[in-house]
Amino acid sequence: MTAVGIDAIEIRTGKLQLDLPNTFAPKKGEDPEKYTKGLGLETSSFPDVYEDIVTMGANAAKSLLDRKGLAPDEIGRIDVATESAFDHSKPVSTYIAGCLEQVYDGDFRHANKGERKFACVSGTQAIDDAYNWIRAGRNRGRAALVIATDTALYERGDPGEATQGAGAVAMLVTEDPSIVELSTEQGYGSMDETDFLKPNQQFPSVDGKRSMQVYLSRMREALEDYESIVGPVEPDTVAYAPFHTPFPGMVRKAGLFAYRHITRNTSIEDELADSIGRQPREDDYGSREAYEEAISEYMDALKGTDRYQDWYAETIEPTLGLSRVVGNWYTGSVHLARTSALRDAAERGLDDAFVGERLLVGSYGSGAQAEIHSETVRPGWREEIEALDIDEQLASRYDLSFEEYTQVHEVHDYDKSVDVEEFTVPDGEFVFTGWGRMNERTYDYVE
Ligand code: CAA
Repeated sequence: MTAVGIDAIEIRTGKLQLDLPNTFAPKKGEDPEKYTKGLGLETSSFPDVYEDIVTMGANAAKSLLDRKGLAPDEIGRIDVATESAFDHSKPVSTYIAGCLEQVYDGDFRHANKGERKFACVSGTQAIDDAYNWIRAGRNRGRAALVIATDTALYERGDPGEATQGAGAVAMLVTEDPSIVELSTEQGYGSMDETDFLKPNQQFPSVDGKRSMQVYLSRMREALEDYESIVGPVEPDTVAYAPFHTPFPGMVRKAGLFAYRHITRNTSIEDELADSIGRQPREDDYGSREAYEEAISEYMDALKGTDRYQDWYAETIEPTLGLSRVVGNWYTGSVHLARTSALRDAAERGLDDAFVGERLLVGSYGSGAQAEIHSETVRPGWREEIEALDIDEQLASRYDLSFEEYTQVHEVHDYDKSVDVEEFTVPDGEFVFTGWGRMNERTYDYVE
């Protein structure tokens, strides 16, 4: 069977940054270490006045098409995943295609366009759709463009304000891909939940603590479902485990749960038994409460072992690099985690030896659904990853003062109309220009 997967990635961060420990925490009267150590965040990205989900998505897509030398008629499908859509009918993919058609000869007239919604997991679902479209033989040799783009803003004063972010990840899904092949096998954990939602409102209603529990429960179910097809996942067979990263501290928790799960009934559990005992089994306890207390004690002990810390340092920590400095990109977040992992492999000097290695990818969307699949690294991965210019983009972000941050938040609040000067100068990119006669948002390309 021909491999199908991700052939190219381009990332576009919002051009502004908020320094969380040094600018945000003091104004909130909080300890900066809540951000650096607790949540695991340094800075979050914000869109400038002329940026939004369309410009960030279109700019990422243009970089990708330019770098791969692709013309519009070589793209048979454009799917946008977002939680930040401003239109209940016309999909963001049409706005992005319209932007791209301003600068390319040809058009996307015969490309199937859509918009995927299921909170943050929809970026992965859009990749699934592209995968299935290619596997079904409906693509006529053309590639699919998948764009995950979000402006993840919370109401001012909401605890989620600490985890904001904005940016887009554009991915090309093809046969014989350069970066990773996607597994056919997938596991799901899906339940009707009200942990985080936006019922006809721009900013989310969030039950933060509950959302963390729901994340862990659905991820566990997805892993069990995945293992029911492929058999037990063994820690040493996974090079990296990129998970959805609302903030790195969440993945620190998920990593520990995952390790407990995948080491149960293995020689690793046996080896650790001398120092921390065996994992508690529910049948050995008289009540659920007693069992949960024992689990909690075991997890604390497991967290302190060299064995776990080494696995975490190699498999999870490298996936968090970009998230730490951009915050939550919702639909793009797990795709940033994958990219961070691959950047780590490139920085470690891995090349051919990394081809064939496996990533265990865990996506999550509130509401709620988790999905687990694996990806196999392909020859060509390194060249693609080294072509990214995300370091330059991050280094050139404008550093907001707290007062400027409050203005930027208002500029992107659809219920407010405020006039704020742009902080950066657009250069060779799509920009938001205003509203048209039917209240559509309008865009231009600035040379
Ligand atoms: N030094 C070190 N650590 C500190 C600290 C200090 N001075 N002060 C606090 N911390 C730690 C806390 O102990 C805590 O860590 P633990 O959970 O390990 O105990 C961490 O920093 C955060 O502190 P709080 O729990 O006090 O933070 P909070 O109550 O202000 O809010 C939050 C945290 C609930 C995650 C909030 O930011 C939020 O609601 N975020 C949005 C929802 C979210 O991201 N949920 C994640 C799962 S849902 C999902 O994944 C979908 C999605 O993308 C939204």
